[in-house]
Amino acid sequence: YAQIAMQPLVAPSLLSADFGRLADEIRALESAGADWLHFDVMDGRFVPNLTVGPLLVAAARRVTELPLDVHLMIVEPERLLADFVAAGASSLTVHAEACPHLQRTLAEIRRLGARAGLAFNPATPPLPVSYVADDLDLVLCMSVNPGFGGQTFLPGALAKVRQVRQLLDDAGRPQVPIEVDGGVGPANADALASAGCRVFVAGTAVFGSPPYAAAIAAIRRAAEGASGPG
Ligand code: DX5
Ligand code: ZN
Repeated sequence: YAQIAMQPLVAPSLLSADFGRLADEIRALESAGADWLHFDVMDGRFVPNLTVGPLLVAAARRVTELPLDVHLMIVEPERLLADFVAAGASSLTVHAEACPHLQRTLAEIRRLGARAGLAFNPATPPLPVSYVADDLDLVLCMSVNPGFGGQTFLPGALAKVRQVRQLLDDAGRPQVPIEVDGGVGPANADALASAGCRVFVAGTAVFGSPPYAAAIAAIRRAAEGASGPG
């Protein structure tokens, strides 16, 4: 049972999907074995790019029962938490850099009924994990500077994942999963899994390598340490 509970999860990032065919893309990802669907919300302030809001999450909620994993790359995320939960978000991940009252924000996400995630940019030390370990359900380590899909994986994320894993274990939260986002694919999923990553976000590695089922399986296999053909 413990083994099943620790299996890697693949979360395709819709940022690289064809938005004109969003429902079809979501159904295709679901039948291709996606575990979660990852939504990249960007406000043109916290990050230079501008993407989607609660309306799109609500549209996705109508076509799938998969967990909707919403990554908020926005300033003042506390203003929109209720809207995203109402839209059907399963988890809401806020950035440490955007939250001066981090404990309050994480507690509010849980109070609204979603899983509370905490994200760190590549150069942000993850020590806050120690202080809010009891208030979070997920830690996201960025392995690129957020804002765009298709960037190159920054290998410093491996040490960050190991560090977060240690902080969570020391805080008595060994069951909290670590998610890695940015340039993730079969080439680094093995090393990431060894470092303690459980949830693999992938945009380019899924949408750029169709068919989706094979792309997702390749990441999962690498994460399971069974790289190689077959
Ligand atoms: C980056 C986003 C990522 C991104 C991943 O700001 O948070 O989720 O879309 O895309 P790839 O896998 O192409 O790096
Ligand atoms: Zn993301």
